[in-house]
Amino acid sequence: MKANRPIGIFDSGVGGLTVLREIEKILPHEDIIYFGDTARVPYGNKSKATVIKFSAESIHFLLGKRAKMVIVACNTSSSLALDYLTNNFSVPVIGVIEAGVKRALKATKGKKIGVIGTRSTIQSKSYEKAIHRKDRTVKVLSRACPLFVPLAEEGILSGEIVEEVIKMYLSTMKAKGIDAIILGCTHYPLLKRTIALYLKNTHIVDSAKEVALHAKEILRRYYLFNRNKKKGKVEFYVTDEPQGFLKLAKLFLKRQIPHPKVLHV
Ligand code: DGL
Repeated sequence: MKANRPIGIFDSGVGGLTVLREIEKILPHEDIIYFGDTARVPYGNKSKATVIKFSAESIHFLLGKRAKMVIVACNTSSSLALDYLTNNFSVPVIGVIEAGVKRALKATKGKKIGVIGTRSTIQSKSYEKAIHRKDRTVKVLSRACPLFVPLAEEGILSGEIVEEVIKMYLSTMKAKGIDAIILGCTHYPLLKRTIALYLKNTHIVDSAKEVALHAKEILRRYYLFNRNKKKGKVEFYVTDEPQGFLKLAKLFLKRQIPHPKVLHV
């Protein structure tokens, strides 16, 4: 039965585990195949053609594992490759952009939204375009925050260093009075608390959480909820030796995961 097949999640590496964490909370009976392209991470500074190629390969792999639906957890892939992916694969493929935008538009009162992400995500203007498709009157202030990824991966989530970096990246948006900010990168939910302390009365939109809610809506729409009532299983696949992934998985998921299988790309 198609409904009992797994959901596929893919990311450039470990960051998509923030999406997995939310899917596990919202859809606990679903089986999941997680694919992290750790040999080719980061995607955040790569070209559109390259990100499309890598993303399409990941989806081919997930379809080989009989995924009934694919979640593009990576914001960079969602920004650069989603159009291609939705048009070229037969299962529902969802990205993180639309879900984050929907929440941000609900949250903003002053119609000023901040967007942060990798360089490629910000250069693509994917969030800005998606916001303006829905409301042209909203002002969008965007900023690439490349240092947030290594900080999150080093587990430096609070304290003086990260506070300084947050100030460096976000002081202009703060001064200009944004009242909602989209965390447009898989890693940024780890820094959510420290960002919230700095921005104060600003609504923080966590794309990971929003895409999980969107995934639930899609499963409902296509009658794809797994009928098993037991806790879903998760399998992990990576494209490089798994030691680094295992270590970071503990930080991102706050639990030990089984040893991922390694695929050679
Ligand atoms: N997963 C990427 C994203 O959400 C961040 C890491 C990378 O650059 O690959 O944009």
